[in-house]
Amino acid sequence: MKCMNKELIKNPNLSYQIAEQKAAHYFHSLYKQVVEKTYVQTITKDIQSWKRNHIHHSILSFISRGKGKPDSRAYHNYIQWLNYTGKLDNYLDRSISYIFMRDLGKALDSPETQTRVKRVVDNLKNQLIHSGSPERNTKNEMFSMAGLYRMAQKEGIESTLIWVFNKLKTVSANIPNGMDAENAQRKLIKIIAGVLMNEMEEMGDDLSAEERSQKLADAIRLGYSYGLTYPFIDDLLDAGILSIEEEKQYSNLIRTSLITGIVPKLGNWPGKNVNLIRFIHSELRDAFEYITSSLRPETRKKFFEQAYVFFHSQEVDRIKDLSNPNYTNEELYIPVILKSSSSRLIVRSVINAPEDEGFDNRTFFYGIYNQLADDFADMYEDLKDDRVTPYTYYLKYHDQRADLINPFELYWTVISNLIHEVYHSDSKACEVILDRAINGLKRYKERMGTDRYNEVMQLFASGNPAFNRVIQKMVRKADDVDFFDKLLRDHMITTLRNQRNEQEIFKDTVESIRNEINQILKIPKTEDVEPLIDAANYSLEGDGKRLRPIMTWVMGVNEYGLNKSAIVPLLKALEYLHTASLVFDDLPSQDNASTRRGRPTLHQVFNVSIAELTGLFLTQKAIEEQASLEQFDSNIVLRLIHYSAEMTAVMCKGQAMDLDSKGKQLTLEQLNTISFYKTGLAFEASLIMPALLARVKESEITALKKFAHHAGIAFQIKDDLLDVEGDTKLLGKPIGKDAENNNSTFVSILGSDGARKEMWEHYCQAMEALQELPRNISFLKHLLNYIVNRDH
Ligand code: IPE
Ligand code: IPE
Ligand code: MG
Ligand code: MG
Ligand code: MG
Repeated sequence: MKCMNKELIKNPNLSYQIAEQKAAHYFHSLYKQVVEKTYVQTITKDIQSWKRNHIHHSILSFISRGKGKPDSRAYHNYIQWLNYTGKLDNYLDRSISYIFMRDLGKALDSPETQTRVKRVVDNLKNQLIHSGSPERNTKNEMFSMAGLYRMAQKEGIESTLIWVFNKLKTVSANIPNGMDAENAQRKLIKIIAGVLMNEMEEMGDDLSAEERSQKLADAIRLGYSYGLTYPFIDDLLDAGILSIEEEKQYSNLIRTSLITGIVPKLGNWPGKNVNLIRFIHSELRDAFEYITSSLRPETRKKFFEQAYVFFHSQEVDRIKDLSNPNYTNEELYIPVILKSSSSRLIVRSVINAPEDEGFDNRTFFYGIYNQLADDFADMYEDLKDDRVTPYTYYLKYHDQRADLINPFELYWTVISNLIHEVYHSDSKACEVILDRAINGLKRYKERMGTDRYNEVMQLFASGNPAFNRVIQKMVRKADDVDFFDKLLRDHMITTLRNQRNEQEIFKDTVESIRNEINQILKIPKTEDVEPLIDAANYSLEGDGKRLRPIMTWVMGVNEYGLNKSAIVPLLKALEYLHTASLVFDDLPSQDNASTRRGRPTLHQVFNVSIAELTGLFLTQKAIEEQASLEQFDSNIVLRLIHYSAEMTAVMCKGQAMDLDSKGKQLTLEQLNTISFYKTGLAFEASLIMPALLARVKESEITALKKFAHHAGIAFQIKDDLLDVEGDTKLLGKPIGKDAENNNSTFVSILGSDGARKEMWEHYCQAMEALQELPRNISFLKHLLNYIVNRDH
């Protein structure tokens, strides 16, 4: 491994110099075209024929363009609208064709590519029109966790998806303030998708199911490993979070890894971001080692060369100083050509795909097109942060530097060159690239407002008034130029942001209700049973999560509008029942546990008989509370008590079955039944009891039961997993207890990996049950997320 990189060690800049020469050559050919303005005539002509498909004069199209068009940010409605107006096929065709060009480096005039595009379009269309229908459910909701998990099941890659879910969660939790966590997540997902698409293109159709699963799983891991460099190298170095000293040390570390093929130890870290860097270092090291260990000898050299060019060109670009007035056009554009192309060229090496000269060439010429479009869109943010891009530099120095190329003119030159030189005047390539270019300007205008947009155009486009008129007319009038990947991007960011906000609300809700519940649980002392009251209060005072009464509260008060004080007895009853079950469960005759809720178990502090009697006392106390639900109709209260007694009996049966199963090879079905009895039922009760009091419809009760069934089992599976993988301090109860007792749990029967899959299966089913509820399901959705992600 070490000697493989000899060439790089000897002269790390050699690969860079070679790439630089190629980029310089490309740049000079573009330069010539800009100066001669050859693109003006070519593009004007292209637009003349392009606009036939995009400027509509008939009344009919006027109507279809008119008010019915939903805001393209309303993802589902927009797709439905496209479908309804017959525009969906074209929309998907242009979007997928574009992705085949940009991400897969294809030429659109090849018949195989056309067939592939068509296939992807048909599949996607099928997915989309189902997911947008009003009765949509998570099976079809592609971008929810449950939807993704369902897709992963079809491909047999569940474990990998669970792995990557966890990785994304950890990464987003570790994104420091000053960086955008949602965008980091979005970028990572985008890179993973890109690598996955390349793999799917590469692997063809005649693989066995196992081979296909393996390749897809590897691609996801490789995609994650490569994608990690985006937030943790480029974005981090851009964010200005590290001190100058730290930045230097950090980029040396990356450089050394790329040159030697080995990630150096972190050593002493000079700055205050030591914890952040420690996390990043360990994640990136794992990622780097995963990629490099899966490289084949043929791709190894190329990977390292491309990686070095990618990293170094970004460095060269980044350290430019906007206050330096002397950069040449070469200095401005060559790193841009290099970084934008190497970021995509490297993808094929990462998946060990064989050389493909066509791909390499097209991707090399394509990169700067994308980069210039992005830099255009971001120019004012970049300017605010003093970043040098072709646009910010031109904004600042165009008055005093007549020699500077106007980047907007270069952009059109690149487009003209791509269409006619790289894609040989292929009509499809021309169509898609012009769609994209006009769409970019339209989006910019929408985002910045007409005044600001006109100002920008005045500055960048006034050199060619006639050409500018043509372009502006298209920006005003052309239609059918929007793209699915942009829709997806907006949808993803909105969804990620909403989720984060909802999650904050969920956390706050849980915390404040938990505090209130903690206030009401304590049993006041009456002389009759004083010692048992002390014992009961001891168990109640511990650090319980109070999930069951919290569920009751949120559904009862927030959703059904029940009076808070009216249901206080119910809240107490549920926590008393649950606490009693824990007291029994911990007894030497059952699980024989020494700690519970962060303190010694009741039978240890008092004794076994007191513990038994306290358990009994608490269950009776629960009935006493239920019987004092005075503000409700007594028939309903009787029904509730009846339900409660039945439920408690089955819970006891579940505990008995659980204890009886020690050392037995249970079937999955038996496991599920036992966990539903011993754990799921208490969840059910917490949802059904307030629903009974609120007299909700039977159909809603059915959906709630289904949700509780699966959420409860998922909760128990997580509990079993935590018994193996958890942290005693966080849990407040000992780990390893199940193995010690030879208990039959999801982990002992299915293994950790199998248990996790089963948990996610129940997660999906619980989510699917939620879709049937005629309520705001935000709380239950986040409760479910919490259940599978919790660490205590
Ligand atoms: C533990 O329940 C018993 C199981 C059903 C696995 P919790 O994890 O809700 O326990 P507390 O109430 O927070 O202590
Ligand atoms: C307990 O399951 C279920 C009850 C409702 C008591 P466990 O035995 O796995 O619960 P812990 O891990 O002790 O909390
Ligand atoms: Mg137990
Ligand atoms: Mg136990
Ligand atoms: Mg347990």
